[in-house]
Amino acid sequence: VPGQDLNEQLVKYLEDVHSAEQHAITQLEDGANSADDESLASVLRDHLIETQEHARLIAERLDAYDSSASTMKDAAQKGVAKATGMVAKSAPDTSGKVAIQAFAFEHLEIASYRMLRRVAERAGDEQTVAVADQILAQEKAAAEKLSGLLEQVADRDLERQGVAA
Ligand SMILES: [Fe+2]
Repeated sequence: VPGQDLNEQLVKYLEDVHSAEQHAITQLEDGANSADDESLASVLRDHLIETQEHARLIAERLDAYDSSASTMKDAAQKGVAKATGMVAKSAPDTSGKVAIQAFAFEHLEIASYRMLRRVAERAGDEQTVAVADQILAQEKAAAEKLSGLLEQVADRDLERQGVAA
């Protein structure tokens, strides 16, 4: 049944963004704790609160499809494991690295939610479309805030390293 395949695809997209949100929670917590630029840390903390809500909203949509809890847990654990590995490897010793990582991740999420939104639209799932729109607006706002901080964060890193001219 074509309609059923579409719903299966939609559930896969929902699982992917749920996993991404789990990853984001870990990354934002670590970033907020390690960033010595206070405005960057503040943007990360604010977005962490939004991100926890995103994870909840997506979990609700997954529940609507009776997506098995174990599948969801697996995806979440994979996301967390990947996040831990990434953070350990890249050891964000500067605010610059934290800002780059956060900026890149917001854009990954924006792309993911735009595609989820399209699939939900084609599946006729208006509730998921609405959730995707709501989350997209906050991801875009967070990306904009991070974008506005990049040069300042680079300056701050230079200052901190005593390189400022
Ligand atoms: Fe985000």
